[in-house]
Amino acid sequence: MSQAALNDWPYPLWIGHRGAGKDAPENTLAAFRLGWAAGYRMFECDVKLSADGVPYLLHDATLDRTTSGSGSVEHKAWAELVQMDAGGWHSAEYAGERLLRLDELAAWCLERGAYLNIEIKPVHSHEASTGTSVALAAQALWAQAPVPPLLSSFQPHALQAAQQAAPDLPRALLLDRFWPGWEAVAQQLACVALVCHHPLIDEALMRNAQAHGWRVLSYTVNDAAEARRLQRLGVEGLITDHMNLLNLV
Ligand code: G3P
Ligand code: MG
Repeated sequence: MSQAALNDWPYPLWIGHRGAGKDAPENTLAAFRLGWAAGYRMFECDVKLSADGVPYLLHDATLDRTTSGSGSVEHKAWAELVQMDAGGWHSAEYAGERLLRLDELAAWCLERGAYLNIEIKPVHSHEASTGTSVALAAQALWAQAPVPPLLSSFQPHALQAAQQAAPDLPRALLLDRFWPGWEAVAQQLACVALVCHHPLIDEALMRNAQAHGWRVLSYTVNDAAEARRLQRLGVEGLITDHMNLLNLV
């Protein structure tokens, strides 16, 4: 699908953050299964590159919070990462859950028609290599799919590398604040969307985005009143930890 084809926004409004928010160990297959069971049809995930070039899911730059391992992931090869328990930290129920490769998640999504937002989350100083590898992997994995994954990142260098590697995959700039020059960067990256920290979103931002041809998505929206406010403004993606929120709004 080309960028132009995104004139018709193909993605659902509701997006499960890291799979199923905090209800299951984030970014594991168990989380995506739970999110799917809760009615979510699109998911956000955080993707890094192992030291030997395997794209896999992990939010933090270290293993401590969400795995049985410890220390930086920067020099860890996949064979080592796959040994970690990525579920026991959450609850006994999920002990033994392991880290997930992007190709495994792609297969799971394609089997059931789930949509994906891949947040490229590089380890510091690996922005370009991660952007390139994740984009090439996504392009190959979703080659036959009717709707490609949406690539997003806080890191312009990661998105720039993704743009060069796989220009037809849709890109979104993640914004936790409006830093100087962000609009020019989003234009240079030919982004189709902005994914904004939800308090940043108001009528002025929506007008600005519309003038530039950017859709607006939001994270992390866990409150029904805030979800309604964003929907009224015309926000087209609500990334949430709250697995029941789509039934309450
Ligand atoms: O992609 C939206 C959101 O996930 C960005 O923040 O820290 O949860 O990855 P974070
Ligand atoms: Mg994320």
